[in-house]
Amino acid sequence: VTAENEMKWDTVEPSRGNFNFGPGDQIANQAASHGQKLRGHTLVWHSQLPGWVQSISDANTLRSVMNNHITQTMAHYRGKVYAWDVVNEAFADGSTQHRPPVFQNVLGNGFIEEAFRTARSADGSAKLCYNDYNIEDWNAAKTQGVYSMVRDFKSRGVPIDCVGFQGHFGSGGPPSSFQTTLSNFAALGVDVQITELDIAGAPTTGYTNAVRACMNVSRCTGITVWGVRDTDSWRASSTPLLFDGNGNKKPAYFAVLSALGG
Ligand code: G3I
Repeated sequence: VTAENEMKWDTVEPSRGNFNFGPGDQIANQAASHGQKLRGHTLVWHSQLPGWVQSISDANTLRSVMNNHITQTMAHYRGKVYAWDVVNEAFADGSTQHRPPVFQNVLGNGFIEEAFRTARSADGSAKLCYNDYNIEDWNAAKTQGVYSMVRDFKSRGVPIDCVGFQGHFGSGGPPSSFQTTLSNFAALGVDVQITELDIAGAPTTGYTNAVRACMNVSRCTGITVWGVRDTDSWRASSTPLLFDGNGNKKPAYFAVLSALGG
């Protein structure tokens, strides 16, 4: 289970030092009472970031605010969240470089490393993941940028355990190189997961290909869809999920079930 919005910064720390875990706790409790694993989403992200953080221009202040947010949030969910998206979507589209605002602009290149080191100190048993979209195609610049970062982190002992591939696809489904991408990352010594899967129109072929790519890579340890019913999806008009607005199973549901081995 992943909270779609309830564990993001704007909900969790709407003003400096004031933490609000109520909405996230409801999801955590629901997951716990059903024996479901909970993924933490997300600690450091440029979006759904409250204005008071976006307006910080002093590096020492932002560093201490970022580290405090990571530490308090992970401490609250210690033992309940098995894996955290420590940093989400830090790379710019079509590029090997980080996205500018606000962490990169103020803290520079080292902010991702600092976030992961802080996260390890805050919860030594949670898996620490980097999560992004448009990194499924092995030939994309953004994929190569993230790959270089993970390779660098592993070579220098910066703590990172997993990479989440969001998997927001158009009607063609995943790119043909997706399985190659998953296995190349896994070969660096990290787990990989599909973390936010949805596909425009929910084609059976696209869903089957996405699930197969993961099933064929032994270190691919999870597939999560980004919502249950089409009507609740962030891209509802593309009807990208496994259940329709009435909760009925769609053809893609049966395709996924079959690709998982029935
Ligand atoms: O809760 C308020 C509500 O009070 C208000 O009346 C309404 C009017 O705009 O907005 C509601 O908040 C919205 C929130 O979803 C909850 O529905 C926000 O405007 C809206 O921006 C927000 O969208 C979320 C989006 O992230 C924000 O970037 C989507 O639900 C959520 O599915 C989406 O999830 C992201 C992942 O976190 C990261 N990867 C991409 C993925 C899809 O964009």
